[in-house]
Amino acid sequence: MTELNENSDVKNILGLQLPTDPRWVDLAAISLEDILTDHAYCEQKAATTCISLIQKYSDKELLVKELAPIVTEEWGHFRLVLQELHKRGLQLGKQRRDEYVNELLAFQKKDGHPDDRLLDRMLTMAMIEARSCERFKRLSEGLPDEYLRKFYRRFMESEAGHYRLFIELAEHYIDKEKVRARWKEWLEAEVGIMQRITPRGDRIH
Ligand SMILES: [Fe+2]
Ligand SMILES: [Fe+2]
Repeated sequence: MTELNENSDVKNILGLQLPTDPRWVDLAAISLEDILTDHAYCEQKAATTCISLIQKYSDKELLVKELAPIVTEEWGHFRLVLQELHKRGLQLGKQRRDEYVNELLAFQKKDGHPDDRLLDRMLTMAMIEARSCERFKRLSEGLPDEYLRKFYRRFMESEAGHYRLFIELAEHYIDKEKVRARWKEWLEAEVGIMQRITPRGDRIH
């Protein structure tokens, strides 16, 4: 699995075309309750999406085998974030509308060959993991609290591994060239999405 070290270049490893707006880290430092709440729901969604993928693709042995432990891991992440909120006397807030994920879902192919839909489902997950990894890297470098910097470093490493896993699963079931070509389209589409949303993920226009 991919490991990111201190000097690693997120753009080179993850392929993301745009860095997260630097204001996002400041925002995170100011409103930790909001950031931890958003984060908690991201982890929860990662777990439930993996469960849905297992249900949808029960005939795909490798996918089921690889995603089963990810459900546990993501749920463990959710619990860690919840613990962090409570430890700090903060509350798990309401789940917010996640424009970033909504836009990614809108980009997914909804028809065509089942393989194309599988590919897009894997690449949606890879994209979410890659962007989470990049954001966690920013938090692990930019937050004023040393404990939280370490806290986010662990998440960063874990999500980098998940990004690789979804790409590898796509390549297991679909021709590698096709995966690469479609991933490029996803990376390009994500640039537009990043430009349309605010640092906290609200849509601007
Ligand atoms: Fe996670
Ligand atoms: Fe993940």
